Amino acid sequence: METLAGKLEKGYIWLSVIVLVAFIAAITYSSVVLAIVVPGNDGQIVPKPGETLFAAVTRTKPFDQPGVRQTGPGTYDVVILGQAWMFNPGAIELPVGAEVTFLGTSIDIDHGLYIPGTTVNIMLLPGQIAKQKYRFTRPGEYRMICHEYCGMLHHQMTGTLTVK
Ligand code: CUA
Repeated sequence: METLAGKLEKGYIWLSVIVLVAFIAAITYSSVVLAIVVPGNDGQIVPKPGETLFAAVTRTKPFDQPGVRQTGPGTYDVVILGQAWMFNPGAIELPVGAEVTFLGTSIDIDHGLYIPGTTVNIMLLPGQIAKQKYRFTRPGEYRMICHEYCGMLHHQMTGTLTVK
């Protein structure tokens, strides 16, 4: 007859197999069905000796001019800076169907850019350039939220993105 310890051991082995299968299924679902991609690291802005990160970022193209730029028919670059405790720009307008490339970084500490209802989910790290594409097919008012704890007013670090 199997001992209680033996039964428990088998139970835990099965539990670990089930958890592993569930993780693999979750990763497959998010990458294949939801098409979530890890935002790329497209370079680093390094301050010169004695220069602040703020100065380095704001002299580096395209971050010297944050905002929306049309790059072709229906395609746009959204250049966005994270800083304590706001997005620059804090309000963005785009036409329905816009194929957007977000280019983001932070001028001070770690921030994030998350837009609920989309797959836009980017880390905005000091001087690190992050890039993510997204097509806005539904009109509406989207919220931009900092999803990386960045201090006292983290919870107020929001913006709006209007698609019409
Ligand atoms: Cu910026 Cu939290």
